Amino acid sequence: MKILLVGSGGREHALAWKLAQSPLCERLYCAPGNPGMAALGELVALKAGDLDGLCEFAVSRGVGLVVVGPEDPLCLGLADRLREKGVPVFGPGRDAARLEGSKSFAKDFMRRHGVATAGAESFDSFERASAYVRARPAPLVVKADGLAAGKGVVVAATQAEAEAALRSMLVENSFGPSGSRVLVEDFLEGEEASLLCFCDGARLLPMASAQDHKRAFDHDQGPNTGGMGAYSPAPVLDEEAMRRVELEVLAPTLKGLLDEGLDYRGCLYVGLMLTRRGPKVVEYNARFGDPETQALVPRMDFDLAAVMLACARGDLEPALPLAWKPGASACVVLASRGYPARPELGLPVRGLEGWNEEDGLVFHAGTRLEGGSLVTSGGRVFAVAGRGPGLAQALEQAYRGAARIEFEGKHHRRDIGARALAGK
Ligand code: AMP
Ligand code: GLY
Repeated sequence: MKILLVGSGGREHALAWKLAQSPLCERLYCAPGNPGMAALGELVALKAGDLDGLCEFAVSRGVGLVVVGPEDPLCLGLADRLREKGVPVFGPGRDAARLEGSKSFAKDFMRRHGVATAGAESFDSFERASAYVRARPAPLVVKADGLAAGKGVVVAATQAEAEAALRSMLVENSFGPSGSRVLVEDFLEGEEASLLCFCDGARLLPMASAQDHKRAFDHDQGPNTGGMGAYSPAPVLDEEAMRRVELEVLAPTLKGLLDEGLDYRGCLYVGLMLTRRGPKVVEYNARFGDPETQALVPRMDFDLAAVMLACARGDLEPALPLAWKPGASACVVLASRGYPARPELGLPVRGLEGWNEEDGLVFHAGTRLEGGSLVTSGGRVFAVAGRGPGLAQALEQAYRGAARIEFEGKHHRRDIGARALAGK
């Protein structure tokens, strides 16, 4: 089977690494891919937003499975377009992708179906939103309704901060149309965990748990980023927590999808806050997480292409059960100086020569070739993943690898997994 993987980040590199190992994968195309993925498949010069080009390519090459990495093409309806042409796709259609594409849609969906989540109200008027904020106790969370690359969320410690965020989104249009509607959410206190699920339209099958580190600097300081590192499993999602998540989150979510006729075939990412009053959904994403994927993929002990094809066809059963390698995995993101606000780009990269998989797995996220040499081209440049019998060994491998790679201004967190390691 020919597989077309859409996207160009670290998540897609990790998926490509696993898909290329499948006996089902006769040929892997990556559109547009990145220099790291060139060793695994053929790079195709089509951007993730080029829906016409991608559909034409998939049909003309006889592609048997399209895997869509990022959210934007899903929200634009890439999966619908491909399915109309009879191409199996791993990724939800536009209607179901609204669970990520509109935070107010997602919140209303959760309310309708009794999925545990934080209380919230949505607004498109600054005056009404600020009146609401002035009447609520801080902290409060202000969220741009639409897609904002993980940057449209402000956790406001005071009412004044919340009002400033509202002004920036609703009056100053700092997120464009994505922020012309906002959600003001109650603050949830607890540990976060990510639970990615395979969905074939009829069942929701959780993967191994993971935890992301969203803030730029150690000890959860600094601005929110796309994610600075991750590890799996997340010990906070213990058996008791998972039991509640199944009952209070996954079961009503699946029932909601079915009741509303939302044909969800892909990965549903459930971002959770484990509060004293039980698990609550912080967000849904319509795709694999980045960098959770870079930590999860090394633990997958099953044929990812077969599972994705089964989801795309609407019948996961033949691909079950899914086995996960025991032990733990972790990944550390190497970012550019200035990330997330103003990353410095175009800097030469060294240290990848003679690398083998015992040194950990290197996933490219923001690199490009310039005259045959590798240079940085994004805020997140690499994720280095390690695996081992326990989290300590996984982290040791990932950090050893991270130290070998050099570029000017390289920045990474030094406390990935530290809280789990300390048993907190
Ligand atoms: P989101 O894009 O909705 O996942 O939000 C980004 C980050 O903001 C989350 O990973 C949390 O760390 C934080 N966050 C979002 N919603 C809440 C909430 N209701 N309470 C506390 N923190 C939140
Ligand atoms: N790691 C968070 C996300 O992918 O949205």
